[in-house]
Amino acid sequence: MLAEQLQRLAGIGLRVPVEELPGGALGWRRRVRLAVDETGHAGLRAHRSHDVLPIADCPLAPAGTLAPVLERTFEPGREVEVTVDADDVVHVDTGPVVQRAAGREWRLSPGVFWQVHPALPDTLAAVVGEWAAAPEGGVAWDLYGGVGLFASVLAGQVGPTGGVTVVESSRQAVADGRAALADLTQIGWRAGRVEKLVGSLDGQPDVIVADPPRKGLGRELVDALCARAPQRIVHVACDPAALARDVSLFAARGYRLEKLRAFDAFPMTHHFECVALLVAG
Ligand SMILES: C[S@@+](CC[C@H](N)C(=O)[O-])C[C@H]1O[C@@H](n2cnc3c(N)ncnc32)[C@H](O)[C@@H]1O
Repeated sequence: MLAEQLQRLAGIGLRVPVEELPGGALGWRRRVRLAVDETGHAGLRAHRSHDVLPIADCPLAPAGTLAPVLERTFEPGREVEVTVDADDVVHVDTGPVVQRAAGREWRLSPGVFWQVHPALPDTLAAVVGEWAAAPEGGVAWDLYGGVGLFASVLAGQVGPTGGVTVVESSRQAVADGRAALADLTQIGWRAGRVEKLVGSLDGQPDVIVADPPRKGLGRELVDALCARAPQRIVHVACDPAALARDVSLFAARGYRLEKLRAFDAFPMTHHFECVALLVAG
């Protein structure tokens, strides 16, 4: 899929392996949303339907975590979110949930983004850090930054004399990120949409990290980012077509695809996660 989209949308002939993450094909999904039927039992929605099917378990969730939830009854017609935290504690619709990655710890409020595969945050943080290589005393942006997973790594690279700006639309994510990374005073937080705020960000970034939702960046944002002339752009993407389109837009602005990796972050599904390094000149 990735090779096809790169060829079709960016004219790039490149094949990269989709790398396995540790932990195997099952039991990786740390957050599961269930629907509740009219009898109060939680289950999964049938494909393209509102019908709720009873289930005994879900092999994608960590073994044994769903059974106690499936035995309970809930208010009919609602949804139930089950989250397994970094200490394997199972939370049903409650927060905060403790998660750890890149040597740090976050307390996440309900609804705040965190990757569902337990090995992905550390894997992405390592690749993003290696490829961003933000200079000491430099400036880095973490766009669509969530609670600042990548910002925490970038902050270590630029050090106390540098600056990292996180832009994230969820106010709750910004609040949770600020609290978790309060000691990293070189991080500045902006709550709002990237499209709206990017023009008002100060300074000339050495590095931009962008981890947008499925639709990717698109022409206007790619233009806005390239206009700031960063040396490097690290693009994290979960949709290969949107990534290939963005790579082609960056190429038209003089940024070449220098490195690309893909990870099987959603085993047993057709989804996967990519990281691309785009370099000026
Ligand atoms: C794929 S997540 C990445 C979060 C973070 N980089 C991480 O790895 O944990 C995308 C994030 O972008 C935020 N978001 C979605 N649309 C946005 C927008 N238009 N502007 C800013 N943030 C947005 C979401 O709330 C979410 O936290």
